[in-house]
Amino acid sequence: MTAGSTTPRDVLDWTNACWDRLPAHPGLRARAAELAAKLAGEVAAGRLPFLAMPFWPALERELAELETGCLARFEHMLLLGIGGSALGARALQKAFAPSQDLPGHRGKSLWILDNVDASGLEAHLSRLCAEKTLVYVVSKSGDTIETIGQYFLVKAWLQKALPAAWKEHLLLNTDAAKGYLRQEADAFGIRALPVPDNLGGRYSALSAVGLVPAAFLGLDWRALVAGFQSVAAPLAAPGLDAARLAAHPSFEFAVWAKALMDAGYSELITFFYIPAWASFADWFAQLWAESLGKDGQGSQPIPAVGVTDQHSVNQMFLDGPRNKACLFVERGQGPAGPAFPEGLPENFDYLRGKRFGELLPAEALGTRMALCANAVPLLRLGLGADDPRAAGKMMALLGAATLLTGWLMGINPVDQPAVELGKRLAKARLGAAGLEKEKADLAAFTGGGAGLREF
Ligand code: PA5
Repeated sequence: MTAGSTTPRDVLDWTNACWDRLPAHPGLRARAAELAAKLAGEVAAGRLPFLAMPFWPALERELAELETGCLARFEHMLLLGIGGSALGARALQKAFAPSQDLPGHRGKSLWILDNVDASGLEAHLSRLCAEKTLVYVVSKSGDTIETIGQYFLVKAWLQKALPAAWKEHLLLNTDAAKGYLRQEADAFGIRALPVPDNLGGRYSALSAVGLVPAAFLGLDWRALVAGFQSVAAPLAAPGLDAARLAAHPSFEFAVWAKALMDAGYSELITFFYIPAWASFADWFAQLWAESLGKDGQGSQPIPAVGVTDQHSVNQMFLDGPRNKACLFVERGQGPAGPAFPEGLPENFDYLRGKRFGELLPAEALGTRMALCANAVPLLRLGLGADDPRAAGKMMALLGAATLLTGWLMGINPVDQPAVELGKRLAKARLGAAGLEKEKADLAAFTGGGAGLREF
């Protein structure tokens, strides 16, 4: 807190980052000029819309219109999407519309189907009322089998229930020109928002991908974007040089992350001590893993939430292999909660006169100190408030840090070539035309059985 101020600031606390164990960091820091030039070039070429957000003025107008128009009409939103097309929306929903998970919820509900779970799909379609439901289909490529497979069934469900009005219950978000979903939009006149060029799924949470569900739920999407831009704008502004980049927290984070990898820290815990923000750990895990797991490099993200995971995986964090670092996320002041009642048993007398909300920060401090005591390099991200503006700031910091870490590693952080093989094999298994090599490989892989043992 600054002198005379009562507002807690958003901080990165490097006290326990353990730089002394990371010999690569001076050499990595020296690359600020190289990375600044690369960043300025990529932004100027329009290849980093996630940072520069050139699409924002048009999207802001569109969201304002949707908010009072189409979105206001519906009680339920069914989101079909996977990976980066779903995880940001879920994190925002869980963090800022938690009432949907509480008893007695009334009002708007968002249902996110990001799996090909037949029983889950059937349960949603048998329980949702089509008249009250807007189906939001998100796929940048417009061809992802998991999402499109669900779309075929949900479209048929809408057409059956609402033969005259089914199109008004669909909103698509996909590439402006390519892909099956775009063809659907054109063929049937279904409303479709464009995913900007060069905006990859996992970097797209603060585009229409995540902001349409946020607006549907009544979240303060303008504050989210304002927070995001306050961190991202200095990186995207013209004239970026080594000094400005070196002073940016995302660069320091990237230097730390790469120096950790070089020193053998192959796992990165993200411990969120804001329980409602647990899904941000999953959002970050996908961003980090899909961006950086390349060429035998990277560090495995391990999402965790306090205090729950103190009683599940924390023993391994503390006393397992010494290959873990930790990003520890907490807020300044959480809700006080109810006071503990009078007459507590003697062995709990330390709770007398206290409030339930005092448990979480005490346990966060205890766990943080224990991690440091067990030599886990730890970066604390302390947020003054756990509001949408802070979430936007954090998302920009972590997005930019991921990108810069990838560049320090010498890999491309915006592609994901390794996951394509599994997708091709699944299509071959389902009999897609072509893919003859994949079909032969599948036959060889599934034809063995020599290792089978009944248990
Ligand atoms: O981050 C990514 O690029 C991926 O996780 C995609 O979001 C995911 O594969 C879904 O792709 P699409 O939006 O094309 O359906």
